[in-house]
Order: sequence, then structure tokens, then C-alpha cells
Amino acid sequence: MNPQAISGLKCHQCSWFLPVDPFHYTCPKCGKNLDFIYDYDKIRADWTTTDLENNKEKSIWRYLPLLPVKMSPEKTSLRIGGTPLVNFPELARKHALTSFQIKDDSRNPSGSLKDRASELAIQHAREQGKTTITAASTGNAGSSLAALSAYHGIQSVIFAPASAPPAKLTQILQHGAKLVPVDANYDTAFDLAYEWAISHGDYCRNTGINPVLAEGKKTVALEIAEQNKWQVPDHIFIPVGDGCIISGVFKGFFDLMGLGWTDSMPALHAVQAEGSAAIVDSLNRGGKITPVQARTVADSISVDKPRDGDKARRAILESGGLGFKVSDDEILAAQKRLSASTGIFAEPAAAAAYAGFLQAADKKLFNSNDKVVILITGSGLKDTASAQKLLDVVKPVNANLIDIEAFLKGK
Ligand SMILES: Cc1ncc(COP(=O)(O)O)c(C=O)c1O
Ligand SMILES: [Zn+2]
Repeated sequence: MNPQAISGLKCHQCSWFLPVDPFHYTCPKCGKNLDFIYDYDKIRADWTTTDLENNKEKSIWRYLPLLPVKMSPEKTSLRIGGTPLVNFPELARKHALTSFQIKDDSRNPSGSLKDRASELAIQHAREQGKTTITAASTGNAGSSLAALSAYHGIQSVIFAPASAPPAKLTQILQHGAKLVPVDANYDTAFDLAYEWAISHGDYCRNTGINPVLAEGKKTVALEIAEQNKWQVPDHIFIPVGDGCIISGVFKGFFDLMGLGWTDSMPALHAVQAEGSAAIVDSLNRGGKITPVQARTVADSISVDKPRDGDKARRAILESGGLGFKVSDDEILAAQKRLSASTGIFAEPAAAAAYAGFLQAADKKLFNSNDKVVILITGSGLKDTASAQKLLDVVKPVNANLIDIEAFLKGK
């Protein structure tokens, strides 16, 4: 609709500026990741918050003037985005905060925030004349791409670790995508998927190295701001693996400030698993991101070498956010506590964000007028085996009320 509102792409490392056509995944000069740059004056000239108020579209496509594609897809009724931002006044009181909100992105069609990026990538791939999309995935990006490819009628090829949670691999197969269950970790799957995509002329939906994906993920920030009537929260807790979600959230709030619709940036707090903390570790080690050998129950954030690490660092540092490392025990305990106190069943990676918040609360990092948002990025139904680690395995109860009474009284 408004392609001329994009001025081009800029390398976040060497600041090289390039046009949108021909499209490059990474900087042709230094190979680092790119950002889409918008001309905010042009956008503001024919798009206002009142236009948005009057717009009945509930999905991410309500933000089309701030997205890097020419038009919305012909079919858009699966409704990506438009997820609830739920207020929990009792939790706010308990933690002495002004507000405590959960942005529940497990409520996207395939059960994770990744749908925002896949939806945009499919439209972008079409505009690039591509008919097949290849992606590497820890599980969610792939299940998301598979579901939305089925809806939009496009081919997809997904490279995922064979060890990914069975529900995620099942989703990929169920939607008819080609699954390559690589006998290796996510990082190897990433490199193979990229090589395959480039050598076969496919569109590459690999996180981090494709700037379109952060543009899709930024829509969660646009929604958080709009749902709060353009008053931005003080803190957002975000689970981090490759670092693309947190970079996308940063970009969303950055664009809103560029438009003049909001006047501040929330502190974006990165939460990583202790066993997969390359980005958070880099904050304490003078900036260098050193790859790790990732090991954590939170499969979605199990990453050796973060592919969007530098942009994630920028998001944390420029927003005044902090890094938190949470143990697997803290993640599973937070997952259970979140489910029992809010009704939201998050997968371990998503629950890590809540575990990070609990650490911050223990360290008394908040003021009483603070507004906090936890970003829940994926559904617990995608990995029930992890949640079951803290649950008693159910044994059958004899089908009579005397035994049932004894059972319920814990005898
Ligand atoms: C549920 C969930 N949370 C968090 C993340 C981490 O996102 P990123 O790798 O962009 O940091 C992912 C990525 O797969 C995810 O699926
Ligand atoms: Zn560069």
C-alpha cells in the first residue's frame, strides 16, 4: 500500500544503506544484519491513530503502513496477532506495581508469536516471486510457517533438530510441510537451511538474517502500545534465544517514537536460560558474544550462536533493559506458578520470561509506579512432557465414591 514509505535498509554494524530492491538478507558490505528504515513523515502524512481506531482489521495487517510489503495477502482471515493483553490487578498488588500485564501470544493460530513473522515472510516471498520457503527452526518457527503455508497455499521446507518436542514436529507434518528432522542441533540446522535455500533459489525464513522477520515480530510491540492507548509500559520481560524477538520489539517501539505516537521506550529485559545465555553473558563481558554449547529444558531458546545477537544487545542497552539468567528449575517452577495463578499455560521458553520477572521482583528492581508486561511467546501445549516433570503422574482411582473421597483427601 505504502512502499514508498520505506527509505531502504541499513546495516546495524557498518551503517551501509541500500535500497529495498534487489532484496538482500544481510549487508553486502560486511555481512551483518539489516534494519528496514521508514520515512516517518511520509507515513504520518496519511496515517493517524484515529485511522487505526476506525480500522476493523484485528490482525497484524492493521499496521500495513509500517510493514515492508506492498500489500496485505489476499486471504487474511486466520487472524495473526490481535492477541490479548491481560491485566492482573492482584499480581500487580502482590508485587507492589501499578500494573502487571501478560501479552498472551500463545493465542496465535499455531500457538506462538512466530506467526507474526511467518505471515509477513510469506507475503514478502510472494512479492519476491518465490513459491517455496525454507526455514530453520527449533520448532515454533517451523510449525508456524507450516500452518500459514497451508493456509496461503505455498510450499515450505523446514529444517529442525530431530530432538524438538514431538508436538512441534507433529504440527509441521500435520500441515503438510516438508520436514527435515536433522540429527543435529538447531545451529547446524540453521546453516544447512540457509545453504539449501540459497542454492535452490528458495525464500529463506531463517531468524535474524532476514530483516523481514523482526518487522513481523515488532507488531507485538505496536499492539502492546495501542492496547495501552499509546502509554508504553516501563518494563517488558522477553525470552531470548537468537535475539530476533527482542530486536523486533525494540523496532516496534522505535518506529512508534519515530511517528511521534509514543514518547518513551520501555526497558526491554532479556531473559535467557542459564545453559544458553550467550547474549546475557556478553552484557557482563564487554560486548563480545561468545557461542556456548546450549543445554536447557526451554528448547525454543536453546541456541549456541545467537543469529541476531548484536541487534538484541542494542535493544537491551538502548532501552535501558537488563539481562537475566534463569535455571531450568526456575523455568519449570515459574511455568507451573504462571499456569496456576493466571490460567495461561506457557511453554518453558515463554515461562522463562516470567522466571526473569520473579528474579527481578526478588531483587526489588521495581518502583511502585511501574507498569510491567510479560511477553508469553508460545503455548505449553506444545511441550507437555516438560510441564509433567513437576506433576504427579496420574494413577487410576477405583470407580467408587469411597475410594474417590480417600483419593481427594490425599490418603
Ligand atoms: C516460544 C519462544 N520464545 C522465545 C523464542 C526466542 O526468540 P528469539 O530466538 O528470536 O530470541 C522463541 C524462538 O524460537 C520461541 O519459539
Ligand atoms: Zn554492513
